[in-house]
Parts: sequence; structure tokens; C-alpha cells
Amino acid sequence: MKITKICCIGAGYVGGPTMAVIAQKCPHIQVTVVDLNEERIAAWNDENVENIPIYEPGLDKIVAEARGRNLFFSTNVDQAIDEAQIIFISVNTPTKTYGKGKGMAADLKYIELCARQIARVSKSDKIVVEKSTLPVRTAEAIKSILDNTGNGVQFQILSNPEFLAEGTAVTDLLNPDRILIGGDSSEEGQKAIQALVDVYSNWVAKDKILTTNVWSSELSKLTANAFLAQRISSINAMSELCEKTGADVNEVAKAIGMDSRIGSKFLKSSVGFGGSCFQKDILNLVYIAKSYGLNEVADYWEQVIIMNDYQKRRFSNTIVKTLYNTVADKKIAFLGWAFKKDTNDTRESAAIYVADDLINEQANIAVYDPKVSGKKVLADLDYLETRSSEKNKKGIVSFEDPYLACKDAHAIAVLTEWDEFKGYDWKRIYESMQKPAFIFDGRNILNRSEMESIGFIYQGIGS
Ligand code: UDX
Ligand code: UDX
Repeated sequence: MKITKICCIGAGYVGGPTMAVIAQKCPHIQVTVVDLNEERIAAWNDENVENIPIYEPGLDKIVAEARGRNLFFSTNVDQAIDEAQIIFISVNTPTKTYGKGKGMAADLKYIELCARQIARVSKSDKIVVEKSTLPVRTAEAIKSILDNTGNGVQFQILSNPEFLAEGTAVTDLLNPDRILIGGDSSEEGQKAIQALVDVYSNWVAKDKILTTNVWSSELSKLTANAFLAQRISSINAMSELCEKTGADVNEVAKAIGMDSRIGSKFLKSSVGFGGSCFQKDILNLVYIAKSYGLNEVADYWEQVIIMNDYQKRRFSNTIVKTLYNTVADKKIAFLGWAFKKDTNDTRESAAIYVADDLINEQANIAVYDPKVSGKKVLADLDYLETRSSEKNKKGIVSFEDPYLACKDAHAIAVLTEWDEFKGYDWKRIYESMQKPAFIFDGRNILNRSEMESIGFIYQGIGS
């Protein structure tokens, strides 16, 4: 089958960049990204390409090149489904906040709605691709909905999980370690797999495109995220021991990371991992294990999350303890709010939880993040529902200028590893602060001896 039209439901952090790159690399394929959120689609269509809703280095250029040529953003979901041969589902699958599996299972209501809509609209055979990270065997549910509510057309379901990391989405998409495509072993299934392989082959080497059965593909995504997050929780577990024993976690990470069997990546100790995937996917894995009665397996993976929650709490406790056991009415400047550098995404960012703890201690938080708005910062705190929105507004203020955020503060907490923080005039910042002036470097990005020579009292993670 020659693919000429693709549609993607969900114009988020995954759907948007992925489709932009497919459109750029496959000028012969028309790619339409649809979303229910009108504001988001309007932003994707903004004449000024700097205003697209998702910040990723290099994404604006790709959108500028392909948009209007073969890349389109629209709210007309029915029309896009009707015209497409391949439909990617890239809607969000948050952790359930209600009912059975609350706080753990993935909420699949948006996936089911998409499946029903595809079934209702489709008048010709379609390949439906799961792009969202889903519990293993979701494809079966999608297939059942499509086959039972459709108009008698044929559907093939593929699983094609996305491994891109935010902040490096464009390079990850242009240069993936691997592309994973899971499909049915039947002849039609294999044809569908081949159609998608042909799309990716426009820029990805054949030996990097891995094909498997649907279940292996679905489970591989959860497994990959669980393994990556486990490394961070493991090194973070060592960070506290380092502080107690005089070892330096950066040195320990370097020493063990040089063992090629362990490797150097994902060993950076931090205030804790955030992002839309790690916590959600591990909780989901825990829930799946439990539902098969595999309690030890569930407990094992849940510990990765428990360690991560502990690391965030430990960071805020250290701040309070060090500031003479009280932060009431003290200004504490946060450098960074995003869950990591080079993204404007704040989902599950450690900063939110650390701020929440410190506001409970009646601190005044001043936030500066190069890409996150004050409105978003407040919305993130409100979402926790710890206290009223009015009280949050009193406890936290955002600044457009980092120097103003730090002025008169008792302490600075580094929550995100933005490169620009390293280049600040730290002497000037020191002079504008209350004394003694503290830095709590939750990302270990600043140079301790430089900070100490200026006069700061510096506390890194695990060192
Ligand atoms: C999402 C999932 O969270 C993740 O598990 C998966 O791997 C990829 O898709 P992300 O792209 O980061 O990740 O989510 P988000 O930025 O929230 O985008 C989802 C979009 O889908 C939103 O813009 C939302 O408006 C849209 N959506 C959601 C629909 O268009 N229709 C729906 O029914 C539900
Ligand atoms: C992750 C996976 O890397 C990606 O393959 C998957 O598709 C989606 O989930 P992402 O959440 O975008 O991607 O970011 P990632 O770079 O993995 O970072 C996750 C969190 O871990 C961030 O808060 C980051 O700061 C933190 N982290 C990462 C550490 O604390 N230490 C490290 O060594 C690495």
C-alpha cells in the first residue's frame, strides 16, 4: 500500500514534533495533526512560528518548512480521519484520578473515545497506530471497539511507541536509536507493518527499524521507561549515603558509569525525576503486575517511585533544616520550574512538590524559568489542591528576570538544569541577597568552589 495521507489525533508533546518530522522527511505524504483543543491548534497555526505551543530546540524551523506544504493542523477530526490511510493516536493517557486503579492505572477514556470516533467516521480500510504509551493489550480493546462499532471496513492495529525525550525531541526523531513497530502476524498485519516501515525508511536505516508482535511492542515502552527511571532512583538512593559518608555522588557516578556494562547515561543525581512518562508508566506497570497477582514484582517497581518521592521531600527538608529550621516569611528563589532543561513542559516537575512543601512552611517562593509562564506555575500548584488558589498566589510569584527573582532572597534552589544559569553574574546575585546566602543545587550544575569563593554556602545533591 502506498501511503499518501496520515492523520494524528493529539497535537501534544509527542504528536506535534513526531508529525512535524514525518512531514519534513516525507514531502510526498500529507500529514494532518488534529486536536480537540482549539487554542492549541490555533497556536500551531500561528503565523509567527515562535508561538507554536511546544518549545523544543529546532522544532520551529521544521514547522516553518513543512507547514502549509504537507503539514496541517486542524480541529476537524472527522475529516482528517476520513481521508487518512494511517491514523496515529497520540492523546494523553494520564494516571487515573478516580475509581478502580485510582492513582495508578492509566486512564484510557480518551483512547476509547478516539477508537469510537475512528470507527464511526471510517468508510475505507485504515491502519490505526498506538503512539501513546499504553498498558499491554490495549490494542485488543481498540480492535474490539473498531470491529464492533465500525462500518464493516478493515482495521489493522499497530503499536509504535515513541522513545523521544523532551528537550531533545527533534534530534531523537531525526536520529532514533531504534523505531519499534508491533503488529499482527497475519498477512494483513504484516502488510500494515510494512506500510509504516516504508514511512520511516525515508530517513531511518532499515537495521534500526525493529518489528515485533503487538504485545512486545506495548510492553517494551513501559519497560524502557521503568529501567531508565530505576537508574535515577538507584543513584539518588546513593546520594544520601554520600552526604552521610563524605563520598561525592558525582565521583561515584563517574566511577561506576565507566564500567561499560553500566554505562554513563542516566546516572545524574538530582532532586528527582519528573516528566509526563516515568511516574505514570511505572505506576501503570505496578498496576498491571498487581492485577496479575504479581505482588513482589509490583512492590519492586513501586520502590522506584517511593525513592523518587523521598528525594523531592528530602530536598525541601534540607532547605528548611539548613535555614535554621524556619523558612517562614523568607524569600526563596527557584531557578527553573520545567521538569528538565530545553522544554516548557512542567508535568510532574520536582519543582512543584518542593514549592508545595516550602509554602506549607510559609516560605515566599520567587520563580524564574526561561520558558514557563507565571500562569502555568500557579496552575501547577493549584492542581495539587493542597490549599486555595488565593493562598498559592500569596506563596509564589514569578519573575521574568532571574536577578529580580534572587534579589533579597535568603536562598536559591536550582530545580532545572538550564544552561543559562551557569553563565549568570553570580557575584552580583550574591550581593543582592540576604546573608548568609545559600544555594541548594538540585541539579549539581554550578561549580561549588566558584560559588564558595564568592561567599555562598553551597549544598549540592549527594556531595
Ligand atoms: C501523550 C501521552 O501522555 C503519552 O503517554 C504518549 O506516549 C504520547 O501522548 P503528550 O503528547 O506529551 O503525551 O501529551 P499532551 O501534550 O497532553 O497531548 C495530548 C493531546 O491530545 C492534547 O493536546 C489534547 O488536547 C489532545 N486530545 C486529548 C485530543 O485531541 N482528543 C482527546 O480525546 C484527548
Ligand atoms: C523519557 C524517556 O527518556 C523517553 O525515552 C520516553 O519516550 C519518555 O520519557 P523525558 O521524560 O522527556 O523522556 O525526559 P528524560 O530525559 O528521560 O528525563 C526524565 C527526568 O529524569 C527529568 O526530570 C530529568 O531531569 C531526570 N533525570 C534524567 C535525572 O534526574 N538524572 C538523569 O541522569 C537523567
